[in-house]
Amino acid sequence: DAGLTTAFVGRQIDYHACIDSTNERASQLARAGAEEGLVVLAEEQSAGRGRLGRSWRSPAGVNLYASLVLRPQVPLNQAAQLTFLSAVAVARAVEQISGLQVQLKWPNDVLLQGHKLAGLLNELSAETEGIHHLIVGIGVNLNMTADQFSADLRYPATSLLLATGRPVDRVHFAQLLFQELEQLYLLLQRSGFTPLRLAWEALCDLTGRSVQVDCGSEILYGTVAGLAEDGALLLRTAAGDIHPVYAGDVRPWPP
Ligand code: BTN
Repeated sequence: DAGLTTAFVGRQIDYHACIDSTNERASQLARAGAEEGLVVLAEEQSAGRGRLGRSWRSPAGVNLYASLVLRPQVPLNQAAQLTFLSAVAVARAVEQISGLQVQLKWPNDVLLQGHKLAGLLNELSAETEGIHHLIVGIGVNLNMTADQFSADLRYPATSLLLATGRPVDRVHFAQLLFQELEQLYLLLQRSGFTPLRLAWEALCDLTGRSVQVDCGSEILYGTVAGLAEDGALLLRTAAGDIHPVYAGDVRPWPP
């Protein structure tokens, strides 16, 4: 950890050559009392978890699979703000290591020219009094080659190696990521949601643009106005009202 300048994020690492899922392991450790800042890292995951019950392809030795334990002292209704931490942190770490600018897609996809670069899976454990712990799961495609992607992806995927032609030093990337995560987490605690919200909105290429939102039960149209305090995506409809969206697939409209 010679190059790590954080006070708590990544100061304790639980490292595995291969594990089912770093999120699963981090949840177990958090339930057993692990301290805030502990990071579970693995070279390979045999059952990497994605959102909505999907799996996350996790070949050995090429990417970053990390899960951070946080114990935020905030009311439950602010928990959604924490979901934007990792997207902005990944964006900043990617920019520092490669000079590339990613695009964020609500709620939390990280894309490079429309190709998925990173997957984020936040898992909250709540109690009646508030948040017990939050697991921030981060998978970043660093040195994955084209033949290591599976064909059945929702988006086409990419890696930093594919995008730049240069392999990334994974330890250096992890250090940058931990530093950004810590900075943003402290900023959120100190200054509230606004700075994180503005950073996220600036990295979301659909901000201010006309979109279609497929919510399953209905399809909405409007212009992306930004994020609400509770994490909802704010849509300005043609009639001029602001409509919060809590779940759905957002795409540019017309396509
Ligand atoms: C998505 O569906 O986009 C989210 C994927 C999240 C993958 C990461 S890899 C590290 C951590 N451990 C897991 O099992 N999942 C997350």
